[in-house]
Amino acid sequence: MKTMILQGVLQGVWFILPAWACNMMACTFGGGRPIDGGRSFIDGRPLLGKGKTVRGLCVGVSSAVGVAILQSFVIYTVHPIAFGLLLGVGAMLGDIAKSFLKRRLNIESGRPFPPFDQLDFIIGALALYYVVGPYVLSDFYYPSWGSLMVILLLTPFMHLSLNVVGYKLDKKEVWW
Ligand code: CTP
Ligand code: MG
Repeated sequence: MKTMILQGVLQGVWFILPAWACNMMACTFGGGRPIDGGRSFIDGRPLLGKGKTVRGLCVGVSSAVGVAILQSFVIYTVHPIAFGLLLGVGAMLGDIAKSFLKRRLNIESGRPFPPFDQLDFIIGALALYYVVGPYVLSDFYYPSWGSLMVILLLTPFMHLSLNVVGYKLDKKEVWW
């Protein structure tokens, strides 16, 4: 029983690692030109806001692919680049969709919108993986329900812990 739980946790973490890397690296190395180019939506508010940048997007997606390639050296997978792209692009699409929604709800860039700030990229990564994955991955793998639960529970926890660390190190202005 204990080893089964441990196995579910490890499988979940291993599976979602590229999406985690994508989010962390985008947050750490993002900045510069915003994806929306500073444009507003028809409601007069920013389309996405200054928190979604081209550099963050590129760094995030490349990190996901990089991690997936490294993982494939440890446990062989047929299409590590496709897997990394699915999780990375999915994560960024989820993050962007959340920012679009936040702006429509008149929540400013950087203001909290729990639990979506913590889960947006996981939902995006899983959505793209499940929808497109079966067509492009010949070794498509269905994570167990246990692993999915682990991912959904552990991600906000990891996210908040890392943010608190970043805040304490003065790398982040707000603790969330
Ligand atoms: N970031 C980026 N590009 C991305 C995603 C994130 O540059 N595509 C960087 C930005 O510097 C951003 C930080 O990571 O401020 C934190 O990301 P996030 O919390 O997703 O954005 P917020 O600034 O909180 O903006 P929003 O309210 O739109 O979520
Ligand atoms: Mg945020």
